[in-house]
Amino acid sequence: MSAAGTDELVLVTGGTGNTGRRVAARLLARGHRARAASRRPEARTDATARSQDSQAPRFESVRFDWDDTATHDPALDGVRRLYLVPPTAVPDPAAHLLPFLDRALRAGVDRVVLLGSSAIAETDDGLGEVYRAVRERFPQWAVLRPSWFMQNFTGDHPHAHGLRGSGEIVTATGDGRVAFVDAEDIAEVGVRALTDERPHNTAHLITGPQALSYADVAAEISRVADRQVSHRPVSRAAMRERLAATGMPVRFAELLAGMDEAIAAGAEDRTSTTVERVTGRTPRSFAAHAAAHATVWRR
Ligand SMILES: NC(=O)c1ccc[n+]([C@@H]2O[C@H](COP(=O)([O-])OP(=O)(O)OC[C@H]3O[C@@H](n4cnc5c(N)ncnc54)[C@H](OP(=O)(O)O)[C@@H]3O)[C@@H](O)[C@H]2O)c1
Repeated sequence: MSAAGTDELVLVTGGTGNTGRRVAARLLARGHRARAASRRPEARTDATARSQDSQAPRFESVRFDWDDTATHDPALDGVRRLYLVPPTAVPDPAAHLLPFLDRALRAGVDRVVLLGSSAIAETDDGLGEVYRAVRERFPQWAVLRPSWFMQNFTGDHPHAHGLRGSGEIVTATGDGRVAFVDAEDIAEVGVRALTDERPHNTAHLITGPQALSYADVAAEISRVADRQVSHRPVSRAAMRERLAATGMPVRFAELLAGMDEAIAAGAEDRTSTTVERVTGRTPRSFAAHAAAHATVWRR
């Protein structure tokens, strides 16, 4: 599939986050125009900063806050394509996203690529409602449904904090398995969905190449970091309490703990061929990801 629309401005919400910053950097590297939106427009990543140096007119950043609707129309001004990362840690993302999609339509956006989750289907309430809105209301669309990110073990995430601190990953997943996926692969699928001449008009289930339990992940990290770390399984209720104790809204903590329980029951024990089919490259394995990030976990 060929890329098109290099002059069409793409708005990237969550433009400083795991997938958003990678999508923006890739768009820039390929000569597309991108506007990264977040509450910290000054917080450009190395990759986007480098891209800006060489492609100054093609990169913009804008202050954007889901809780401040006055920032929404200015962010959409002149935009034709949208990479939409939902607000994080809110129990009802649809309450933010559906009105934002109305604004996007009014602004002239005709292609939307929504970041969803493998754990959420179109028939579900909440984000599922947003999947339906994107499919029904935009002529060109894609919904990305990635599995759990490998970056949860290295970035600003409770698993990463646990590994760096006590050396524990705590979940209610038991010995259930997840086909963890690298955010680089998600971003690559997203960029194809944004720029391929033919719109994808489908939902993409995106996984890594292999389903692993959290104990498998801990064993691999122990191996590459040369330091013993472990997975501690807890109950769903204990998980909810742990998450809520971090300051997370209780309803969201309950949602995440419920997803863990679904993993324990086997809901995420699957792989898809999406990365290879859409991008032509094999998805990165957890072993390769861990080897590249070993220093993060070393004492
Ligand atoms: N992590 C996973 O394993 C996983 C798996 C499947 C799906 N997902 C989905 O991926 C999405 C992103 O999750 P993530 O953990 O990877 O987070 P992330 O994208 O790394 O970080 C969140 C992004 O949203 C921005 N943001 C946060 N609050 C905002 C606000 N009030 N207004 C505007 N922007 C705001 C942040 O930028 P600033 O802080 O600079 O504003 C940041 O760019 C979530 O919807 C999640 O459900 C995650």
